[in-house]
Amino acid sequence: MNTPDISPATPFSPKGQTENTSGKTPSEPSVVISGTGQYLPSKVLTNSDLTKIVDTNEEWILTRTGISERRIAGPTETSGTMAAEAARMAIANSSLQVEDIDLVIVATITPDQPFPSTACHVQTALGMRPIAAFDVEAACSGFLYILDIATAMLRNGPYRHALIIGTEKLSAITDWQDRSTCILFGDGAGAAVLSRSSLHKKKTGILDTTLGADGANGHILQMPGGGCRVPATPDSVSSRQHFLKMNGREVFKLAVKVMEQASLDILARNHLQAEQIHSIIPHQANIRIIEMLASRLKIPMERFFINLDQYGNTSAASIPIALHEARENGFCPSGTNSILVGFGAGLTWGATLLRWP
Ligand code: UT7
Repeated sequence: MNTPDISPATPFSPKGQTENTSGKTPSEPSVVISGTGQYLPSKVLTNSDLTKIVDTNEEWILTRTGISERRIAGPTETSGTMAAEAARMAIANSSLQVEDIDLVIVATITPDQPFPSTACHVQTALGMRPIAAFDVEAACSGFLYILDIATAMLRNGPYRHALIIGTEKLSAITDWQDRSTCILFGDGAGAAVLSRSSLHKKKTGILDTTLGADGANGHILQMPGGGCRVPATPDSVSSRQHFLKMNGREVFKLAVKVMEQASLDILARNHLQAEQIHSIIPHQANIRIIEMLASRLKIPMERFFINLDQYGNTSAASIPIALHEARENGFCPSGTNSILVGFGAGLTWGATLLRWP
């Protein structure tokens, strides 16, 4: 086992911005994104299609959310199968082999089943060695949570390469009778390979992450049924307890607030100004949330990577899918800084600062 050689991560505080002391120990290895991948189901559900399912119209959906269409998984596509496809692409793009991966972490709110974990399904699907594999549930912030966990494990432990995946089949928990939520969500998976590297220049790769949660506001975005509190019964099914429920207006307000705070926090504790951030890759929930965030941070919208028009909100998959497409589209040139920022049920939130090698 390697001896941990960095200061412990500093917790997110809504008020105080503790300084990021990581990156200051001479022997600290960089953790870099060595590959990314995605998987989107081929079936497209347009706003026009939705007008045949619920009482809505194309213009309302587009102007209130920015979403034009989303992908819907087929009957044999699951969070696990989509995660495995995204993972294959990420490993291929990293020029590594499946055998090189030392750790698998999946973020999802729509696991293939309560147990075994979706990470174990991915491990089997890819024919991986008997390496550690586990799931984390932090809703739409899940990818930022697993990115921070994997980064710490790579820095401190014997691991060299970690596969982290955000994957969701939200169509399975969407109430297709509820027009206020069913227009928002889509299915898909995004993956990244993180690698410990002493080859890269100091202060590149994953530089810092801030995470937070406010469980007292959990009720504004939740699925009531399916856990031990409301187990599946004929009553729980007929009263639609196994679908996602949301107070959209409340989520909207808190989303802007916590994403702004997390972004400001990560800038302050790394002594950076907003102008020094070349690109922001936000959770793809609603274009109006992102526009409000941009305006509060005084960062032009052109620096925000947006693909929610095509995929809607894919929860834990949203940031890694956007990350993959941003890299592919030249949105993240070498030597520039990016911030990944998101929020989700819990409530949870997070922001990650990276510098591209
Ligand atoms: O990953 C986190 C996931 N959650 C989010 O990101 C959600 C954040 N919240 C939002 O994105 C927005 O709150 C929504 C898009 C969900 C809703 O937009 P809004 O501007 O907050 O609308 P609203 O809920 O205040 O509803 C306005 C009106 C209501 O009608 P009345 O009461 O004014 O007559 C709704 O019944 O719009 C109505 N409405 C719709 N009309 C047409 C709600 N859904 C629809 C619909 N089509 N699909």
